[in-house]
Amino acid sequence: MNKKYIIANWKMYPISLSDAISYDKNFITKKEWPEEAEIIICPPFPYLSAIKSLTLGAQDCSNKESGAHTGEVSAFILKELGVKYVIIGHSERRDKESNEVIKEKMNMALSQGITPVLCVGEPLEVYKAGDSMAYVKQQLKECQPKKGVILAYEPIWAIGSGLTPTPDEIGNFALELKKEYDMPLLYGGSVSADFAFKLAKIYGINGVLVGYASTQPKEFEKIIFNFCKSNA
Ligand code: PGA
Repeated sequence: MNKKYIIANWKMYPISLSDAISYDKNFITKKEWPEEAEIIICPPFPYLSAIKSLTLGAQDCSNKESGAHTGEVSAFILKELGVKYVIIGHSERRDKESNEVIKEKMNMALSQGITPVLCVGEPLEVYKAGDSMAYVKQQLKECQPKKGVILAYEPIWAIGSGLTPTPDEIGNFALELKKEYDMPLLYGGSVSADFAFKLAKIYGINGVLVGYASTQPKEFEKIIFNFCKSNA
């Protein structure tokens, strides 16, 4: 059975620890999830230990092992907290870091046995010019993902906007990318329950990275089931 990755990127949406705890108790623990689904919750760092019921992910990690790096959180610390996946190179962080730093973060995570979820994606003007694939390939060339990495295609203009590429565009993109990169590929950017159903039918898409909708329990539950029910 092919594993399907459903990643909840909570960003900084939960407004309190009790929010995170009640999500864990009232939403996560009560459901029987599809067997093939690997559901990964990425809360803000301070709430990592509040999530007990599903697979734990983090939203970022440091490119450094330890030492004088104020505000940074190392992959080792994450591992100690039970983190199994970490989002790396999210577009909301990319203005603060180069592809070189992203590569170092990815390797740091791998060295601790944490699976990096490497985000790539183009801005709107690049999409409009029809250059998305070349743009993403350049990002990948500089980040050099290796075995053990999961890729997430997240067009920047689709994040939080309610806009998405068409399923055909995503399908062609996946086909082309997988010729060079033999690793799981997720799609992220305004994923809703309806769109999850369409994404599930796209060959080459192995999961979804969900932002805002993952903080809405009913919608997120539908996303999980819609993505898991329509393909093998
Ligand atoms: P969104 O965010 O689902 O709110 O568009 C996705 C992401 O940023 O990973």
